[in-house]
Amino acid sequence: MSYLFWFRILSSNDACSLPEFDQELVDPEPWNEVLEALIEPFPSSLLPAVEESTYSTPLEVAVLRLDRLGSPDFRSTPLHVSGNKVFKLAGHLDAFFASPKSSLVSFGGRWSNHLHALAAVAQCLSIPSIGLVRGYPEQPLTATLQDCVDMGMTLKFCDKQTYAKRYDPDWRQALSERYDAWVIPEGGEGEDGIVGFSVLASILKDYDHIWVAAGTGTSAQGIAAHLTAKQTLVVVNAVADQGELQRQWAVTMKSSVACHWEIIDDAHQGGFGKCPAELRTLITSADAAGLPLDPVYTAKLVSAFLERLAKSPESPAVKTLLIHTGGLQGRRGFDL
Ligand SMILES: Cc1ncc(COP(=O)(O)O)c(C=O)c1O
Repeated sequence: MSYLFWFRILSSNDACSLPEFDQELVDPEPWNEVLEALIEPFPSSLLPAVEESTYSTPLEVAVLRLDRLGSPDFRSTPLHVSGNKVFKLAGHLDAFFASPKSSLVSFGGRWSNHLHALAAVAQCLSIPSIGLVRGYPEQPLTATLQDCVDMGMTLKFCDKQTYAKRYDPDWRQALSERYDAWVIPEGGEGEDGIVGFSVLASILKDYDHIWVAAGTGTSAQGIAAHLTAKQTLVVVNAVADQGELQRQWAVTMKSSVACHWEIIDDAHQGGFGKCPAELRTLITSADAAGLPLDPVYTAKLVSAFLERLAKSPESPAVKTLLIHTGGLQGRRGFDL
């Protein structure tokens, strides 16, 4: 894993002056410092009111603000990749560099955090990138897609049937040949999407319960791989998938991870990308408390956590870490 390489991307304001890619420049030290600085106490104003006498010591709940990586202000165009994408894209980028291909292709919707991050990385590294977007060219560009274009990504629009072929190996092979491209799966999922999470291992070890939101479940899988038998990973599924993630994990994770895990499947609040009024209210309160959340993933994570806390208060002996996986650029799709 090219830790230092990524560290340089994130800390460099002048992406063009990046050093040559060098697999030998492996040094996890800078990452630990960067990540520790991103851990903040969870805002107490959002926690349910409890009788002061309930606990003799305060609850220990922290947030790992991966949204703050490389992107100081989500309202100004974030040119650097942030959130879980830093870790999800690392392995894909390594695979690309090991391949003879000259460009990157991936897939996403009109507000895709993944395409946005990929466009930013590709721009930093001067790699041509192509985004295959579920949608029609006649539709006005969303703020996300406009950023992608501004960052140099070429967009190709696909209708529903064409987009449905994104898992078809023959179609992917054809795309790879047509664009001389390394094809990254939708959302950066897959084995290559998991490896980068090893960077988080050393800071996760201090927590008993770790909470993270899931779409494909790749980030959660990458995190689970670095937890011990004494730790619990709580995965908040942002997708109404009729138990699909649950079924997959029951098969694949049973023997491959040491930690306990739980998937919360009823926290999608009406479905993927739905943002009911109560969620907006939570986002507004969290904004006021200095914790900006995105409606698709992290607001649902916090909402599920607070609901759990209200039902069965955590013991203060349990140290909890919520992972903020970013996605704030997508707020613009919700007028937030
Ligand atoms: C902001 C944000 N959080 C969480 C996730 C879920 O990640 P995964 O698909 O790895 O489960 C995504 C999707 O990549 C995302 O964009």
